[in-house]
Amino acid sequence: MVYTNKAYSFIYLEEKIMKVITVKNQLEGAKIGLDIVSEKMAAGAKTFGLATGSTPVEFYNQIINSDLDFTDKTSINLDEYVGLDGSDEQSYRYFMSQHLFNEKPFKANFLPNGKAADLDKEVKAYDEIIDAHPIDLQILGIGQNGHIGFNEPGTSFDVTTHVVDLTQSTIKANSRYFANEADVPKQAVSMGIASILKSKTLILMAWGHEKAEAVKGMIEGEVTESLPASVLQQHDDVIVIIDEAAASLLN
Ligand code: PGA
Repeated sequence: MVYTNKAYSFIYLEEKIMKVITVKNQLEGAKIGLDIVSEKMAAGAKTFGLATGSTPVEFYNQIINSDLDFTDKTSINLDEYVGLDGSDEQSYRYFMSQHLFNEKPFKANFLPNGKAADLDKEVKAYDEIIDAHPIDLQILGIGQNGHIGFNEPGTSFDVTTHVVDLTQSTIKANSRYFANEADVPKQAVSMGIASILKSKTLILMAWGHEKAEAVKGMIEGEVTESLPASVLQQHDDVIVIIDEAAASLLN
């Protein structure tokens, strides 16, 4: 069943509810994201799952320009490239410092260590961090291929933090941040789908036509490992914030 009012559509999927908020543009979406963060903080949220990429940048600007205080909050990021140090400008730790942490201090900011000598140990340690700090609100983008975090199509829904071989399409999409496509790392450490689903609430944001197909599959398609974001249909507290372009293929 689908019904809509002016601002929201609530899409009922196998008795779960995915709340879809369609906005005019990214700025409007980022402001709604900020309102949700603010509500969750007032309700006691302590741990925020964060994402990199272009999608959350305006949302982070809204947080920076707000009076919200994160000095007693913890953040846990989805992923990090293997082989990049946090001081490397292409690393996700560097991205987070530039776009949020330098301006909005938290009590602690966790990201996987892409330079860990023992990656098996690193993924286990990251799972322990997530278990010790249950995520109240997880922010997600979506890849054009439907990935969430670096969980590429075909990733089992059952895995927690793991080392991922990036697909060619992701390497190509992310090459815009690097001098050459060849410089894009070929692996990443990523929270798995099972880690992501542990979050109490998830907000997935998507902007632009290039995300429309993945958004349609996520909301209206079958739940399949071929489109990792479709697993969100099985979580009972997901808020999807999309602009009109990203929503353009929805029925
Ligand atoms: P983007 O990436 O925010 O840069 O579009 C999102 C993703 O690939 O998950």
